[in-house]
Amino acid sequence: YALPEEQSKKSLLRQNKQTQNTSWEVEQFNRASQLPLANEDKVTENANDYEFVFDESQFVTYDEADILPGDEDDQVASPSSASDEMAELRKNLPVYAYRQDFLNTLETNQVLIVVGETGSGKTTQLPQYLYEAGYSKNNLAIACTQPRRVAATSIATRVAYEMNVKLGQEVGYTIRFDDKSSKDTVIKYVTDGMLLREFLTDPQLSHYSAIMIDEAHERTISTEILLGLLKDITVTRPQLKIIIASATINAEKFSSFFNNAPILNIPGRRFPVKIHYTKSPEANYIQAALTTIFQIHTTQESGDILVFLTGQEEIETMEEALNDSIDKLGDQIEPMMVCSIYANMASEVQSKIFDPPPQGTRKVVLATNIAETSITIDGIKYVIDPGYVKQNKYNPGTGMESLVIVPCSRASADQRAGRAGRIGPGKCFRLFTKWCFYNELEANPVPEILRTNLTSVILLLLSLGINDLLKFEFMDPPSKQSIIKALELLYALGALNSQGKLTKTGQKMTEFPLDPILTKCILMSSKFGVTIQTCAIIAMISESTNLFYRPKGKAELADARKAQFHHDLGDHFTLLNIWRAWKDYGYSKEWCRDCFINYKTLQRAKNVYAQLIRLCSKIGGAEMLQENKEDEDRMIQKALISGFFMNVCRLSRMGDGYERLKGSTGGCFIHPSSALYKTKPKLVIYYELVLTSKEYMRCCSVVDDKLVKEMAGHYYVNK
Ligand code: CDP
Ligand code: MG
Repeated sequence: YALPEEQSKKSLLRQNKQTQNTSWEVEQFNRASQLPLANEDKVTENANDYEFVFDESQFVTYDEADILPGDEDDQVASPSSASDEMAELRKNLPVYAYRQDFLNTLETNQVLIVVGETGSGKTTQLPQYLYEAGYSKNNLAIACTQPRRVAATSIATRVAYEMNVKLGQEVGYTIRFDDKSSKDTVIKYVTDGMLLREFLTDPQLSHYSAIMIDEAHERTISTEILLGLLKDITVTRPQLKIIIASATINAEKFSSFFNNAPILNIPGRRFPVKIHYTKSPEANYIQAALTTIFQIHTTQESGDILVFLTGQEEIETMEEALNDSIDKLGDQIEPMMVCSIYANMASEVQSKIFDPPPQGTRKVVLATNIAETSITIDGIKYVIDPGYVKQNKYNPGTGMESLVIVPCSRASADQRAGRAGRIGPGKCFRLFTKWCFYNELEANPVPEILRTNLTSVILLLLSLGINDLLKFEFMDPPSKQSIIKALELLYALGALNSQGKLTKTGQKMTEFPLDPILTKCILMSSKFGVTIQTCAIIAMISESTNLFYRPKGKAELADARKAQFHHDLGDHFTLLNIWRAWKDYGYSKEWCRDCFINYKTLQRAKNVYAQLIRLCSKIGGAEMLQENKEDEDRMIQKALISGFFMNVCRLSRMGDGYERLKGSTGGCFIHPSSALYKTKPKLVIYYELVLTSKEYMRCCSVVDDKLVKEMAGHYYVNK
């Protein structure tokens, strides 16, 4: 369901005939100093249109001079299952030379900051060193946090393999709705959000002997709260060791936050990476990236390519266009193999990116910023960086939150470039100008806590008994305004009373690893006898970003199939239709294929659904799951609006835009993928806003004034 402008992006990609000229400025970039050195003899080059790849006169000529020799022993052998070979491999990692230093410093210090370049072995090795040094004695475990689910699962898999144990036994992972750990687990990779939740049941984290907060430079909100909480328990648990690992050099901030904790620096292996900038800004970075891939492929020596894109949709668009062109060019070019990695990817497919390509084949990896520092793919020699990232953006004034694609920071761009210099001298192609790099990009990313909705974390802090939020030690305190906004919303949701104390509803909410808004829908649904339906809808929503696919040449058929499920009341009901149909067909894979529905996505939703039902019977017993078949649709509408009351929008009198009933800052529109795109009802509720060229509401359903009055009157008193 491509948006109009996305469609035009796609059709652009298919126009192979047009000649595109991408020209580059070249400069030497020696990562040892982290300071890009301007190169006087700038080279202007013209990229060729990849349709004419064999016209060598149009090829780019690269300046190969000034490449510094790397360390002699930099080549790492490819992994093998033999255990002594594995031991050898592990000893080859840069972090190994610091093994004893690391353990000794931890003996005498409770907190240690470890800084080391990506790929140096922090994430996979440090927890193993702790384990080997006996930190798992007395039934204690070692936890290592990751901001991303994919990283937690893929690294746990890798470490289980290195230790030659079964994943889920000694080495495991815990991510939301998926727990592969057991009582035998001594090394656990866990998302930062899930470790945060462990504070609820074990406020002293007494099960652990050591906690490693990894990827601390990413400054996710959960990591930030964890740091504050950990600082708190250092006093009561002097034996607990805390390791803060980061890929960037700005470690002082972490050190001073932890009372000048020592910093261990692990110099990485690095080869120089030559940076190429475009001469002028690129209007379409997807197209420019595509051209650059073929340009590299036809002119540059062997070595794999890593392309940084912003999300699953972009990656899929690119993958299709790339495979298209590869097919068209046939044996005119050397073989290429395309693979991708992004946040919600199923773990079976993930591992493909680590497979070495067949001899003579070049691997092209399309990745989100997960490949920036969280995971390392061996063999990358070329990086293509459009310079964008997808982020959530929150306006505490209006309470509006949306996902936007924004320029990445200079720090991110340098991390991305660095990925090209691991196996030998590399090259990074930035699809933006040098001027832009120095003048338009921010030096560092804005910490998530300063640009996100705080409702979930504040609920969590309150349930941990941290009532004075303004006194909580944040590395970068969020604005008072966004704290107040979150408290207001929690009050409106019934999680807090007028004294700001947690209510029974609030306590129940913390049981669910979901946004409080979603949990509110579930809790209320039992009143209306539609908990089963509501859990299904919410499981589907939380996994539905890429439920449908539209294969090339069958897009119309796919659209027609999807339309069969459309429900007049909107997308929540459409999702329920799909869920029920799939269930009626015995959760069949073939059925999914026939309907152009992503089977893996539905499977994940099924897993989430089962866990939500389990939580409901835990907190409300069988009573909570009792069904009321009368007036089901109305009851579901009531359950939905009880949580999403702040997301009610009214069709404006002119045009097809919508305005929020409260706190509107401008129009938003029904997403073209919605069942309501054509009908345009007067009043809708939406699940989330996505900003592309316009502010789009994703997942909308019909509501009416009576419902708003009944279920959300408390929020719209002045309306
Ligand atoms: O955390 P850091 O970036 O310092 O490195 P790491 O994630 O511990 O990775 C260390 C090395 O393990 C990488 O350089 C890869 O060569 C290897 N590795 C791998 O081969 N397969 C994985 N799934 C993960 C890591
Ligand atoms: Mg790491």
